[in-house]
Amino acid sequence: GIPSLKAVFGDQFLFGAAFENFELLQEADRKLLAKHFNSVTPGNVLKWDTLQRQEGVFDFTGADAAVQFAVDNGQQVRGHTLVWHNQTPDWVFRDASGNLVSKDVLFQRMENHIKTVVGRYKDHIYAWDVANEVIDAGQPDGLRRSLWYQIAGEEYIEKAFIYAHEADPDAVLFINDYNTHEPAKSQALYNLIQRLQAKGIPIHGVGHQTHMNIDYPSMSEIENSIVKFAALGLKTEITELDIDVYSNSSQRYDTLPDNIAQKQTTRYKQLFDIFKKHSALIDNVTVWGKDDGNTWLRKFPVSRNNWPLLFNERLQSKPAYWAIVNAA
Ligand code: XIL
Repeated sequence: GIPSLKAVFGDQFLFGAAFENFELLQEADRKLLAKHFNSVTPGNVLKWDTLQRQEGVFDFTGADAAVQFAVDNGQQVRGHTLVWHNQTPDWVFRDASGNLVSKDVLFQRMENHIKTVVGRYKDHIYAWDVANEVIDAGQPDGLRRSLWYQIAGEEYIEKAFIYAHEADPDAVLFINDYNTHEPAKSQALYNLIQRLQAKGIPIHGVGHQTHMNIDYPSMSEIENSIVKFAALGLKTEITELDIDVYSNSSQRYDTLPDNIAQKQTTRYKQLFDIFKKHSALIDNVTVWGKDDGNTWLRKFPVSRNNWPLLFNERLQSKPAYWAIVNAA
């Protein structure tokens, strides 16, 4: 058979993949996940709206099954995610009349959720994306105007890290975001992290989602952002890598053009050359889906064909797989 990604990159970083529980139903999917990846990220089942859709009613069915798969296969697990503006039920932010709750009430709900979830998986989840996508470079303080922010300001981010650390002092706690290379966004994220560090908040790493496309961003921008955040003394993980074959939402291919496939292969190769160069800084590189048949980019931002990953929908290794393996 072909070499496994986890073996090929074993002396560089963990190699992870996001997955959905329905992918565990077919043996071929299970085998691919188990063979190539020594880290997994449940794609949805650790989000708030799955775990606690109604206040006080926790449902761990999906999360337990996902984590058990990883344990059975000796894989590390990244927990994704605790505090986010998406996939969080509205009840979290509101009272019975529908008005926004006080900061105290919000923090009680947050503490209960984070401590219940992080505590339950403390033996099996080594890292958590505590705060996901909290940056908005268009705001004067650089923070997204989510309901979290509207109720509690920047303090909600501090509290999220504190609660997670109290629940599992060994967990590696990440702030995770997309387009971390983009100048204004990068600066806003950098400033936030420095404020958190100055207050002694237990933040341990930056997760670079790394949702790329066929043209954007440049390799040097990605390299610079890896180096820039590592210099803050933080761990670096690539948490949601994929390379969209389109560069805007109006394009659509019935079949993947050869020149686009080749360009994608080249970009994967160049990217992993950077990861190799900086492998002392990088602990985990996770692709957001194991194969092209299981990518969120076939639904987002519009429904269309896409082929952003390392294995095709028949679970065969793509040229991009061979390019990174041969250069490892
Ligand atoms: C995506 C999932 O893959 C989809 O199944 C879901 O419908 C929406 O969320 N950034 C993130 C991830 O941090 O949680 C998102 O995952 C992809 C973008």
